[in-house]
Amino acid sequence: MCGIIGYTGGSQALPVLIQGIRLLSYRGYDSAGVSIWRDGSLTVRKDQGRIEDLAPRWDPKELAGTAGIGHTRWATHGVPNIPNAHPQFDAARRVAVVHNGIIENDLALRAQLEADGVTFASDTDTEVFAYLFERAFDGDPVPAALELLKTCHGAFALAIQHVDLPDTLIAVRRGSPLLVGLGVRENLIASDMRPLVGRADAVIELGEDQVAIVTPDSVRVFGADGREVEVSTRPIDHSERDIGKDGYPHFMLKEIHEQPDRIYELLASRVDADRGVVRLDDIGISDERWRAFERVDLIACGTAFHACLYGAYVLEGVAGIPARALMAHEYGERAPRLDENVLVIAVSQSGETMDTKVALQIAVDGGAHTLGVLNVRESVIGRMADGVLDIHAGPEIAVASTKVYTQMLCALLLLALRGGQARGADGALLAELVPAFKKLPDDVRTVLARFDQAREAARDVRRASDMLFLGRGVDAGTALEGALKMKEISYIHAEGYPAGEMKHGPIALVSREVPTVAVATRGPTRGRMIGNVREVRARDGEIILVATDGDQDAPKLADLVLWVPDVHPLVAPVVNVVPLQLLAYETARLRGCDVDQPRNLAKTVTVQ
Ligand code: F6R
Repeated sequence: MCGIIGYTGGSQALPVLIQGIRLLSYRGYDSAGVSIWRDGSLTVRKDQGRIEDLAPRWDPKELAGTAGIGHTRWATHGVPNIPNAHPQFDAARRVAVVHNGIIENDLALRAQLEADGVTFASDTDTEVFAYLFERAFDGDPVPAALELLKTCHGAFALAIQHVDLPDTLIAVRRGSPLLVGLGVRENLIASDMRPLVGRADAVIELGEDQVAIVTPDSVRVFGADGREVEVSTRPIDHSERDIGKDGYPHFMLKEIHEQPDRIYELLASRVDADRGVVRLDDIGISDERWRAFERVDLIACGTAFHACLYGAYVLEGVAGIPARALMAHEYGERAPRLDENVLVIAVSQSGETMDTKVALQIAVDGGAHTLGVLNVRESVIGRMADGVLDIHAGPEIAVASTKVYTQMLCALLLLALRGGQARGADGALLAELVPAFKKLPDDVRTVLARFDQAREAARDVRRASDMLFLGRGVDAGTALEGALKMKEISYIHAEGYPAGEMKHGPIALVSREVPTVAVATRGPTRGRMIGNVREVRARDGEIILVATDGDQDAPKLADLVLWVPDVHPLVAPVVNVVPLQLLAYETARLRGCDVDQPRNLAKTVTVQ
């Protein structure tokens, strides 16, 4: 989705803005632009396409100057083209604005401005801000910024430049996150932490309806009532290393390989093996509350929703609480019955996904107890929920989620075990799982070391135009996730199904040209999965089987086997998804696709 960067200081702004745009580009974008103050005017350059292609076209002489704003746009209002790219400006080019989010009353505001003689140059809602700001501006940017908060409804983060304020940037925040980075005789504005790392030492997170006036030497923050507010700063702790590719050709491959370490850190920090307990004291759910819950609703989208399928399985099976996984955008369509004995868990990498946020608001309004299972604690969803369970995956840059998924599975299993503990479930399961947890990072490493088997399967499926992914029970979500990874990065049409569904329709698709990937590892569903595999074989379908080491039937049943180590069936989804991630990665690479930034997708989906 859209990204914001702003710079004011002693250096040339353009290289900082270009680097910022590059670092924000993981969010997904179709165009980018900058505005720079120079000699009493604002110079704007905007283009469509990738920053690698755009940056060489942006002339450092024409765009010389030490204060500027930049943006990556993912089209919502108006097609992706140059007029609709940001910065947007007024006709006299006295104000330049970059914007994340949406003005909900933009049609009414546009109509009013048009009636006053404004001719808009773009289809964006953003252009409205430029005119409204200029009309309210009398030399002091604060009242003009407050006027925007008064007049415009919706969720937005803005960075603004005015031609009369050479080294000043104005930041406005409602709903969408916005940060001010504090450097040495330079300051920055950014919509997330990445462009600030290495440039700023500390950060201010703007609060709801706050305005910041940023110059190279000062940052002043004002509340919606116009009064200056005291703000707290916090040091930046993301290491530089987290934002490089570490020698991998793509972020996605790097992130797939980070899984063992991330899993180890999460489980080691939460499982007290000596005392046989899971420690989740910080999520704000007492034993008494756990015992009172009558239902759990898990809400999320995409990959996070697939994690919820597993979450519902373990919360019901292990903690003994009726649990269901629901797509967040469907939540409000069904009028869920809510009260304080319902636990609503919003699962989200970014913590910014609008559909999940809207669903969580329904839960908050309905009086449910709410929990965010998140990778970004200080996010919109993190602030809304009663508590947060941090999955600690570290920044995920590739648009397709991988390490975040396995961390979500681990976090949800920990949650189920904790709930089970509080509700008096049999302690034997945790005792059984402790050794499984201990070897889980190595089990994932073993699969990573077997990249060659995924490579062989990728060479096999690379020319397919359709694929099926099947799994059952605890691995039903694995099948859906395998299919999603394949379609989003390789553009092969792939469908994931709980395997029992095959006979009820999808089996009609089976043919030699449609490879089927089936997850049939050791566990209670293996026998039934093998039945499904035989049905596909009987119809001449090609089978790629995810099977447990030592399974003697697997080579007889499958055209290709993706071997995985023998693990406890309850943690098997964490291991079983890894060969599917590698298969999707390698297939996309062989097909020449842009693995890290697939077409039409955005990392953070902040629109409904
Ligand atoms: C797919 C993917 C998406 C996200 C979904 C929710 O690889 O990453 O399906 O899982 O957009 O995003 P978050 O987790 O940020 O709420």
